[in-house]
Amino acid sequence: MRKPNMMEAKKRTRAEIKVIRDAYIVPSSINNIGIDKKYFLRTYGCQMNVHDSENIKGELEELGYTEIDNYEDADLIIINTCAIRENAHNKVFGFLGRLKHLKKQKPNILVGLCGCMAQEEAVVNEIIDKYQWLDFVFGTHNIHELPQILKQHLDLKQLIVEVPSNEGNIYENIPVKRDHPFKAWVNIMYGCDKFCTYCIVPYTRGKQRSRRPEDIINEVKDLIKKGYLEVTLLGQNVNAYGKDFTGLDYNMATLLKDISKLPIKRIRFLTSHPWDFTKEMILVIKNNSNIMPHFHLPIQAGSNKVLKLMGRRYTKESYLELYQKIKQAIPGASITTDIIVGFPNETEVDFKETLDIVNKCKFDSAFTFIYSPREGTGAARIVDIVDIKEKEARLQTLNQLINKYTLESNQKLMNKMVPVLIEGKSARNEALLVGYTDTFKLVNIKGDSSLIGKIVDVKITEVKTWCLYGEVNNGKN
Ligand code: 5AD
Ligand code: SF4
Repeated sequence: MRKPNMMEAKKRTRAEIKVIRDAYIVPSSINNIGIDKKYFLRTYGCQMNVHDSENIKGELEELGYTEIDNYEDADLIIINTCAIRENAHNKVFGFLGRLKHLKKQKPNILVGLCGCMAQEEAVVNEIIDKYQWLDFVFGTHNIHELPQILKQHLDLKQLIVEVPSNEGNIYENIPVKRDHPFKAWVNIMYGCDKFCTYCIVPYTRGKQRSRRPEDIINEVKDLIKKGYLEVTLLGQNVNAYGKDFTGLDYNMATLLKDISKLPIKRIRFLTSHPWDFTKEMILVIKNNSNIMPHFHLPIQAGSNKVLKLMGRRYTKESYLELYQKIKQAIPGASITTDIIVGFPNETEVDFKETLDIVNKCKFDSAFTFIYSPREGTGAARIVDIVDIKEKEARLQTLNQLINKYTLESNQKLMNKMVPVLIEGKSARNEALLVGYTDTFKLVNIKGDSSLIGKIVDVKITEVKTWCLYGEVNNGKN
């Protein structure tokens, strides 16, 4: 048994980060355990988790399992969890309640839990205490060990907990089953060393570790060969890419430049921290038309006092300066953001400053959250006197303002031609196709299904807050 430990997870030592290429091993005794069996995988949380799930699916399919989307019919159920806010926790525990019931009816099914919640000491203690019916738990650092963990469970027939809390290595060559045929997630780095005071991620995902440039470039080349048109470079703080290399002068701007030379149609990246967004990056993005003009640039708050307490290392003024630099260099760029309201003891004046920066930036859209204390983080120790009702009211006020600007930015596209990668049919209306613009706006399109998998010019004919509607211009596909 390996249990996570918050003190260990917080450590940042000078230990060398190893790139391990041969860690994924399938024990011969379980080579085919999934043949004629079905698995269900539920993913909560961010794109990093979504991509981890693609690796887990790749592993399970190598063992012979087939994916299904109804958990009640599955032989194996895995929940890939998120720890970022309390409500993510609640959803997982709610689902576990239903699975406990199912397991009573079908004792032979296997149920496992992984992801960020598994890296939390308190969660694992609770599982060991109250969820002995679960079959296995593994963490974010050892996804490649899933076959061994399954074997251990089958041998011992008891709850297996294997969650190392080390700073983490880089594991290459883990199988992957991608969810999408045209656009792919590509990890460029793991972990985070920023330690924003509200955030659990540096504890659940370890030290910042950048993948070697050649591994990333080879992955993109391989995707191009397989017909992929779009890659999204993933990391908790992609702009800090390469800062952990020793003896190699290579950063996010260099990586973007090198990837943009490849024949890939669309390059995106997520998520940026304003602190590390350099002039060189802006220049590379400006000069390479296959790097998409969309930037997710979380501001989190508009008050310098709150930003300081959050440990964000920039001010409202320096964020605005960066924002304007990007807009000047790349005029049509869309900028989206994340905002937290109700950080401990945020005053009405602090909150007004958040509204003020939203009024200045007029974001294309934003994810907004009420602050949720995470055990073990710096901010969780602050005694907070603001009432939750007040926080909810602030969130509502903020959302109304955000929605106003989202609609305004969408309206600017009315009657314009925009390039869209057509991804498939709309889930809501079979007659419509859906895709994203270069600026990452969702469009519903009237057009023939032969356009799926192509980048086409679409004329925007109607706009709403949450999506656009458009038509394919004759002969321009
Ligand atoms: N409470 C509320 N929101 C949070 N986020 C991260 N940690 C917390 C927390 N403890 C938000 C931030 C981040 C996004 C992914 O989630 O806005 O950018
Ligand atoms: Fe969390 Fe801050 Fe790291 Fe983002 S940069 S993952 S908010 S600690």
